[in-house]
Amino acid sequence: MLRSVEQTKFVLAESELPRRWYNVRADMPNPMQPILHPGTGQPVGPDDLAPLFPMELILQEVSEEPEIAIPDEVLEIYRLWRPTPLYRAHRLEAATGTRSRIFYKYEGVSPAGSHKPNTAVAQAFYNKREGRTRLATETGAGQWGSALAFACTLIGLECKVYMVRVSYDQKPFRRSLIETWGASVVASPSHDTNAGRAVLAEQADSPGSLGIAISEAVEDAAGRADTAYSLGSVLGHVLLHQTVIGQEAVRQMELAGAFPDLVIGCFGGGSNFAGLAFPFLREKLAGRDVDLLAREPAACPTLTRGHFAYDFGDTGKLTPLVPMHTLGHDFVPAPIHAGGLRYHGAAPLVSQLVRDGLVRAEAYVQNDVFASAVLFAGTEGIVPAPESAHAIHGALQAARAADEAGEQRTILFNLSGHGHFDMAAYDNYLAGKLVDLGLDDAELDRALRAIEGLPAVA
Ligand SMILES: Cc1ncc(COP(=O)(O)O)c(C=O)c1O
Repeated sequence: MLRSVEQTKFVLAESELPRRWYNVRADMPNPMQPILHPGTGQPVGPDDLAPLFPMELILQEVSEEPEIAIPDEVLEIYRLWRPTPLYRAHRLEAATGTRSRIFYKYEGVSPAGSHKPNTAVAQAFYNKREGRTRLATETGAGQWGSALAFACTLIGLECKVYMVRVSYDQKPFRRSLIETWGASVVASPSHDTNAGRAVLAEQADSPGSLGIAISEAVEDAAGRADTAYSLGSVLGHVLLHQTVIGQEAVRQMELAGAFPDLVIGCFGGGSNFAGLAFPFLREKLAGRDVDLLAREPAACPTLTRGHFAYDFGDTGKLTPLVPMHTLGHDFVPAPIHAGGLRYHGAAPLVSQLVRDGLVRAEAYVQNDVFASAVLFAGTEGIVPAPESAHAIHGALQAARAADEAGEQRTILFNLSGHGHFDMAAYDNYLAGKLVDLGLDDAELDRALRAIEGLPAVA
């Protein structure tokens, strides 16, 4: 049956690519708490961070300017895939029979297949400009590691990736992609660092975690003058770079003649969620009505069950103390397939907004998430990354709730990446082998003991 010929795809011209990143810090009703030096308990200054990051990124981290210009060299690379399309999910709406309108912004058109290159390119650019020749990083799902490998090869930097063991084993072709782009990759925990060796000494078959891999990459970068550390999420400058997503989406929703009631993103460290949601938060703070919803896995429920507290960003306690929702820095999430969502902490900017009631969070188990992913693939065609599927499931839940309440809502979610390297996860789901892993209270209590004695948040 032919449906009405309402527009499906909303695309912007290359000339409409945003020229500035949006800095939410300028508009937040309550400022983020400072990041602290673990030794002194005092706020960290630029000099403390200089061994790990280029000065421009350190300044972006603390900037209060509402907008920051995107360098021409970064824009030139963004143009390879940006602006990304925004879709109206007509076929998904029809399959579910919802009265709501569902839109999604698709970041999987980037060379690496996700939103991650938006910050990888910017970080590689500033590092190169300030004289670094090599970057070290961690990767969970492999999306971030491949994004940074891609950015480094275009910009001319060496790159070393510590890839969480469980993903390294589940996704051999993400490894190949990282190597194709000229980076070296090792399973974490590895024998290449003290942090990795310490974990392996306690548990030789550790599945790894983002917290452990971050320790390894930070140790690597801190030990070499030619190397900086690069993080794919959590920090303010990473979220800043991702705001090209939401700025484009605001304009594309205008093209669609609509404004969302709900903006939804999956949540690992917070970067794709913030990238879409922050430009809409700006609209909300200017008086428009929109709910911002972060969706995370029940196996790693950082925003929904973690404490808002100071904690280390990594397991080895090498990073400064970060004010964020946390499950405790030695928490190792169960090996769910959404590897990019297995992080004990959260972006401090999003954590503060959750605390202020401006962002709401919910957690889902993986069989429900995969059921929504398969429905999406069978209607819209795109096979989503397991991480992004949390946002799809969130959108479908919201549509169902609206239908039950007799309401019609406009829902926008971030389809942060495709799942072409995640087919082992789909195999497991289709074979009925996925286990719904939650987190029991006893393990949560145990993990949270790791933050006892750390400074309290104000
Ligand atoms: C496709 C995709 N979406 C989402 C995430 C989660 O990260 P973040 O919360 O920073 O967007 C990842 C992380 O690896 C990812 O690969």
